[in-house]
Amino acid sequence: MSNATLSIPVHKTTQSRLPGLDINNLPFGKVFSDHMFVADYADGVWHRAEIVPYAPLSMSPASSVMHYGQSIFEGMKAHRSDNGDVLLFRPLENQKRLNRSAHRMAMAEVPEEIFMEGLDELLRLDQNWIPGGDGRSLYVRPFLIATDDYIGVKASDTYKFIIITTPVGAYYDHPLRVRVEKKFFRAVEGGVGYVKASGNYGRSLYPSALAKHEGYDQLIWTDARDHKYVEESGTMNLMFVIGDTLITPQLGDTILAGITRDSVLTLARDWGMKVEERKISVDEIVDALQQGLLVEAFGTGTAATIATITTIGYEGKDYDLPQINENGFARRVNKALDNIRRGRIEDPHNWVHRVC
Ligand code: COI
Repeated sequence: MSNATLSIPVHKTTQSRLPGLDINNLPFGKVFSDHMFVADYADGVWHRAEIVPYAPLSMSPASSVMHYGQSIFEGMKAHRSDNGDVLLFRPLENQKRLNRSAHRMAMAEVPEEIFMEGLDELLRLDQNWIPGGDGRSLYVRPFLIATDDYIGVKASDTYKFIIITTPVGAYYDHPLRVRVEKKFFRAVEGGVGYVKASGNYGRSLYPSALAKHEGYDQLIWTDARDHKYVEESGTMNLMFVIGDTLITPQLGDTILAGITRDSVLTLARDWGMKVEERKISVDEIVDALQQGLLVEAFGTGTAATIATITTIGYEGKDYDLPQINENGFARRVNKALDNIRRGRIEDPHNWVHRVC
């Protein structure tokens, strides 16, 4: 496919499911909009990009994604501004990260024009699925899977790139109790923790289920070698406010380069806050908690945006954080991001992409 603007054939559904949507009951990721974007890669080129009604895929049981896990994904949110525009937050960052994931997983990369034009066309068509109201949005899930009909172990020669969308409410409806994990790990130096490989999420489910069984919402992952340094929490990047400093683990092989993470750090720096990206030991967190210096802890991610942490469990003891401060950093940055994403305040970093 050339770099010229694509002309994407659109096959519309004959029966929209929108009238059946109950926006007061939006469990995350269970209801999907009417259409999806699909593009296929074969013989070294992308071809057959089209929009079709949302429907099951028909695939060979030998498709390599089902056997060797060449599967990567992205997540972003579309909002409608007060004057009716359809807005996406930093979608090009998702496109670039998808391709970093593709590179690491030996998959075909998705060109910018396919990613962006597929996204724009799909959102223009399904824009009425963007639910109005605070905390609600249309979550957009682009993903790339290997489709070779072959169970020999090798990088696939064929791929499918798909975008689906799902109207969502808040990802978490309460502040989180998290536990420091010291047996299992999420990512390892030299591994794939820094990319959005589906396997990173699959491998986390069993340890997370154990934590849920113990009454926690999520885990705090620690480094695979010594379980000494904190890395991420659940599916989110992790941030702490200690004294007047915002601290988060620095990027590397084991930390996902979160777009919300970057946006929060950028706003904090804009606001003149001290920001440190560095290793943070569990001992440092526990010391800061005991001395009353740990003011806030939260996770950042596209789905959750900012998820406040109320309790950190470590070696059988629960440490409670101070009561949530309505004027604290987490609340302020959450509000600012929401206002930028909805086009309500100035967007000094040009983060917002207007679809239509
Ligand atoms: C996101 O925040 O978009 C994520 O990737 C988390 C997701 C697995 C729900």
